[in-house]
Amino acid sequence: TVVRREDYTAPSHWIRTVDLTFDLDPAKTLVISRMSVEPNTERPGQPLRLDGEDITLTRVLVNGESISFRFEGQQLVLEHLPAEPFSLEIRNTCAPEKNTELSGLYTSGGSFFTQCEAQGFRRITYFLDRPDVMALYTVTLRANAKAYPVLLSNGNRVEHGTLDNGRHFATWVDPHPKPSYLFALVAGALVCREQCVRSRSGKDHLLQVYVRAGDLDKTEHAMNSLIASVVWDEARFGLSLDLERFMIVAVSDFNMGAMENKGLNIFNTKFVLANPATATDTDYANIEAVVGHEYFHNWTGNRVTCRDWFQLSLKEGLTVYRDQEFSQDMAGVASARAVKRIEDVRQLRQMQFPEDAGPMAHPVRPEQYQAIDNFYTTTVYEKGAEVVRMMATLVGREGFRRGMDLYFARHDGQAVTCDDFAQAIADANPGSDLATRLDSFKRWYSQAGTPRVSASGHYDPGAGTYTVTLAQHTPATPGQPVKLPFVIPVAMGLLDSDGRPLLLQLQGESQYGGTERVLVLEQANQAFVFTGLYGLTGEPVPSLLRGFSAPVILEWAATERQLFTLLHHDTDPTNRWEAAQRLGLLRLMGAVQSGRPLQLDAAYIDAQRAVLRDPSLDAAFKDLLLTPPSEGYVAEQLAAAGVPVDPPAIHAAREAMRSQLAQALFDDWVWAFEAHHDNGAYRPDPVSTGRRALANLALAHLVLDAGRSGDPVWPGRAYQRVQDAGNFTDRQGALIALLGAHHALAELALARVHAQFKHEALVIDRWFALQAGAPERDGQVFQRIKTLVHHPDFLVRNPNRARSVLTTLFHLNPSALHRADAAGYVFWAEKVVEVDAFNPQLAARLARGLDRWRVLAEPYRSAAHEALCRVAARTELSPDTREIVGRSLAD
Ligand code: ARG
Ligand code: ZN
Repeated sequence: TVVRREDYTAPSHWIRTVDLTFDLDPAKTLVISRMSVEPNTERPGQPLRLDGEDITLTRVLVNGESISFRFEGQQLVLEHLPAEPFSLEIRNTCAPEKNTELSGLYTSGGSFFTQCEAQGFRRITYFLDRPDVMALYTVTLRANAKAYPVLLSNGNRVEHGTLDNGRHFATWVDPHPKPSYLFALVAGALVCREQCVRSRSGKDHLLQVYVRAGDLDKTEHAMNSLIASVVWDEARFGLSLDLERFMIVAVSDFNMGAMENKGLNIFNTKFVLANPATATDTDYANIEAVVGHEYFHNWTGNRVTCRDWFQLSLKEGLTVYRDQEFSQDMAGVASARAVKRIEDVRQLRQMQFPEDAGPMAHPVRPEQYQAIDNFYTTTVYEKGAEVVRMMATLVGREGFRRGMDLYFARHDGQAVTCDDFAQAIADANPGSDLATRLDSFKRWYSQAGTPRVSASGHYDPGAGTYTVTLAQHTPATPGQPVKLPFVIPVAMGLLDSDGRPLLLQLQGESQYGGTERVLVLEQANQAFVFTGLYGLTGEPVPSLLRGFSAPVILEWAATERQLFTLLHHDTDPTNRWEAAQRLGLLRLMGAVQSGRPLQLDAAYIDAQRAVLRDPSLDAAFKDLLLTPPSEGYVAEQLAAAGVPVDPPAIHAAREAMRSQLAQALFDDWVWAFEAHHDNGAYRPDPVSTGRRALANLALAHLVLDAGRSGDPVWPGRAYQRVQDAGNFTDRQGALIALLGAHHALAELALARVHAQFKHEALVIDRWFALQAGAPERDGQVFQRIKTLVHHPDFLVRNPNRARSVLTTLFHLNPSALHRADAAGYVFWAEKVVEVDAFNPQLAARLARGLDRWRVLAEPYRSAAHEALCRVAARTELSPDTREIVGRSLAD
C-alpha cells in the first residue's frame, strides 16, 4: 500500500500523557500503557485507530471500563469513545528475543534496546504512532536485577528500588513532550564513562556513555565529541542542552548509524567505540560527526519535529548540515575545513547523484512511499543538507543564524513541515536572494533529479568584458517528466591566464566586489557579464561552482590548459580538487570509451608529481588530489553521457592508472612515505590524519610497483607494518597496500590480523570488509567472498557483519559484482532473499545494489535484470524489499 503526502490529515485524537510499565523478559515482555487521550476537536466523532505490529493485546480499558474493539488489518479500532478527554489503558505482550528486525524492543548481547524511528513504537504497544502526536512520558522498567542492573529511559530517573524475586525497578520522567519515535529504553549489564559539563546558562549537565564492560577504554573520543557538540551548539546557534542528563548507549546489533531518542541516544557500536589500536582515522572522524549529529537533533528534530514522515528532511537535512558545519569548525584551519567539504562533496556525488539518476529518484521531500524506512536516503539526508547550505549561502552566515532563531521562536514544541523551515529562514531575511524567490527555491524540495548546468565563457578584450552563460536542464525522473528551473547559487571567480585572481565587477554595478561572486541562476538560461577586464594577457579562466555551491552537475567543456591552471592556482580548494578529478576522469573515460589500454601522458604525470611535491599543500589535501575518481563515479559519468557501463573495463582503466602512477612517481612515493610516516603517539587531529593518509597512499603505490619490478623491499615493509604499526589506521593501510597489489603476503597479513583481533568485533568487521572490497582480479575476490560467508565469524544476523561483506560487494566493489557469468547477481538474489526473511530493512538496502542495472552494458544488463525479476517473483517478500525491486523494474 502506498502512502501519499497529499493525504495528510490531522489525528483524530491527541495523546497528552503516557505512563508505560515494562516487565522485561526476553521471551515475553508485558507492557502496560496508561494514556490520557483527548479527541481532536477539529475532527469530532472519529474512531481511534491505534497502530500495532507483531504484538499481542491482552486488555483495553476506557476510563477504567472494558470496551469492545476490533482489528482492521494491524490497527486496533476503538469506536463510540467519549467526546471528552478520557483515560485509556492497554496491556499487551511482545517477544524481544524473537525480534530479528531490530525495530521496536529487541535483545542484543543479553541486553534490551529499542529502535522506534520511524515506526517501531507500534511493535512495542498500540499507539498513535505518528510524529505529530506528542506526549509526556513516564516510564517504569522492571527486570531481574542481576541480568539487567542498568535500567534507562528518556529524561530523568525519579525513583528506583528493589522488588521481589530478585527484580528491581526504575522510573523515568521525560519533561519534554515527544512523538513516539523518540521513545527509548535500555536494560542490561552496562558500564559508563561520565562527565559533568556546565552550560552558558550556568546549569550543570551529566553526560554518560554506556557500553559493555570490556569497552570502557574505547569511549574517550565519543565523550570528547559529545562535550564538543554541547559547546558548539551553544556557541554557533545559541542552543543549550535542555536536560539534566544526556546518555549515549552503544549496541552492536543496529540497523542504522545511531538514533537521537530524547536524552537517550542509542548508537551502533561502530560510531562510539574507538581506541588507536582498533579504530581508524575514518572511524574517529565518523564518531565525531555522528555524535554531533545525534546531539544536534535534540533541537533540530526533537524540540521541533516533523509533522509527518514526508518531512523527514526537515530534521535530517538540517541536522546533517549542522554536523558538517560542526566537523568543519572542529577541523579548524581553512585547509582542513576544505578537506572536510571535499569529502562531503565526494560522498554526495558518489552516492546521491546515482540515486537521483536511478529508479529510486525522489524529491528531498518525497511524495509517496510504501515503506518509510526505504526513504532514509542520501537524497533526504545529504541532498537535504545541500538545500539548507544553499539557503545559508543565499542569506549569508548571520542571516542564516537569524533564520534559525526565528524558526525556534515560531515552532519550538511543534511538529512542522519543510515549508515552515524555509519560510522562517526567508522571513528573517526580507529582501534577500532567498526571500525574493522563495517559491521557486522550494522546487529543491519538490523536484527530484540532479540539475545539469552548462557553462560557457566568452572574453571580449576590446570591451573588457567576460560573459558567463549558464543554462540549466534537469532530466526526467520517475513520475516527474517535466521540471521547472531551480534557483541555483553559483559561486565563482575568474583567474587570469597565469592563475592570479581577478577583481570582479558585474555589469551595472558601480563597485568592484572582491574576487568571488555568487551568481543566482534561476531561469533556463542566463548570461552574466563581468566588466572592466582590460589589458589581460589572455582569456580569463572561470572557476565555477566554488565550494560546490549547489548540488548540480556542471557541464563545462574546459580545456586541459584551463584545468591545469585551476589545479595549480585556484584559490578555491574544492575547484583545485575538481580540476584534478576532471583531468583523471578525461583519461579514464577516454580509455574505457576507446577500448584501448590507458596510457598516461607526461603532462598528467608531471602535474601529479607537482602536487605530491608541493610544499605549500597539506598532506590531507594531497591525498585527495592524488586519489583518482572512484570506479562508481566514473560509471555514473559514463552513464550520464549515455555510454553503457562496463564495470570490469572501468576497473581495468583505473588499475592501469594506479600502476602507471606507481611506476612513474616511484621516487616521489618513496619520498612521500619517508616524509609522512611516523611512529609518534597517535592523535586523531587533521594534520596527523592527513600525514597518515598520504603515507599509506604512498605505501600502496610502492607495494603495487613491486608487483612489476619484483623488488621485495616494500611488500616486506608493508608486512612489517601490519605486525607492528602503532595504530590501526597504519595497520590497515599496510594491509590495503598488500591486498591492492595482490601480493602473496596479504594472506599471511590477514591471518595475523584475525588472530590478534579476533575478540574485537569492529576490527573483524573491517577484516571482512577489506577482503570483500579488495580490487578484483580474475574473479578471485568474488570467490573469496563466497568462502567468507561460510566463515564461522560471518554472522549474517548482525547488521555490521552482514554489511561488511554484502554491502561492500553490492555497493562498493563493482568489478567483483558484475561478472560475465552472472554469478555476482545470483549471489545478490540469494542473499537479498535470505536476509529479507529476518531483517527487511537491511535486505531492502542490500537490494539497492542492482537498482542501476539499466545503465549497464551487455551481458551485465540482461543478467542483472533477470536476477531482479527472480527476486520480484517471490511471493513472501517484505514490503520494504518489494518496493525496491518493484521500483527498480518499473518503467
Ligand atoms: N534519525 C536517525 C538519524 O538520522 C536515523 C534513524 C533511521 N531509522 C530507520 N529505521 N530508518 O540519526
Ligand atoms: Zn539524523
